Amino acid sequence: ANIEEEWIKQKIEDEDILYFEYGKFIEFEKIGKGGFGDVYKAETIDEKKVALKCLRKSSKIEENVLKDFVKELKVLRIISYHDNINSFLGITKDYEENYIMVLEYANNGNLRDYLRKNFCSLQWKDKIQMALDITCGLKCLHSNDIIHRDLHSKNILVNNGKLLIADFGLSKQIAEATSNSTSNRMGMTAYIDPQCLKSVNHKKNKKSDIYSLGVLLWEITSGHPPFRYVEQNMLVYYIGHGNQREKPIDSTPAKYLQLYQECWDDDPEKRPDVDQVYDEIVRISGQLN
Ligand code: ADE
Repeated sequence: ANIEEEWIKQKIEDEDILYFEYGKFIEFEKIGKGGFGDVYKAETIDEKKVALKCLRKSSKIEENVLKDFVKELKVLRIISYHDNINSFLGITKDYEENYIMVLEYANNGNLRDYLRKNFCSLQWKDKIQMALDITCGLKCLHSNDIIHRDLHSKNILVNNGKLLIADFGLSKQIAEATSNSTSNRMGMTAYIDPQCLKSVNHKKNKKSDIYSLGVLLWEITSGHPPFRYVEQNMLVYYIGHGNQREKPIDSTPAKYLQLYQECWDDDPEKRPDVDQVYDEIVRISGQLN
């Protein structure tokens, strides 16, 4: 067995990672596709709902897939206990010995779909709470020196109306991030730091997450994803070189508008850090109560 497999086995043996018997899960329902395989909803015998993220059965890239799987596990183990992070519960193995991640099930799906379905019933206080939820989750990541690198509205899940940051497949601990430059441009273009769009050498950092956060703060006020009518290929020029941003929604309070515009400033130095964003949203929400 390779290093990754040994690591997983050891963690289970040490009871650092909870192991679930696969036979405990019932009522499988496919709900999506993740970075390394399909995602299922399932239930335990005591009717607890979980999300199962399966490792794709693959041939020659298998090793890398397992590497990514373990990388995500390592990040999840650090930050999983926060209210605004999709909790990692443990792992299981199917009958063909494929590893599967067991996650807290979010019953309202992802933020993009949630906004599409519920936008007209959301009040400003709900939206500001959503902004607070995401920022609070990101605060936890950044305080642990983890950068997410792929924040967008499909990677934010909604559980009983509460937002959870999910999908840490591209996330990295900062010490590691400088050693690997392969996936700078991976992610959804409209949420990617323009500095990374302009130059493949620009490494994602905390301020790149802040750019994505700015786009998400806008999206909460608009109810739909950014630049939805623009082709992905065009967006690189549009945003990276043309420095275009989405138009503000008319009813947006001035302080909130100013906040997300600072987050998506072309100059990373001018973007606030996550603690500043958090404090400002708290201030804004206080003002409007
Ligand atoms: N899709 C991906 N992960 C999920 C989760 N934890 N809950 C619900 N849907 C998901």
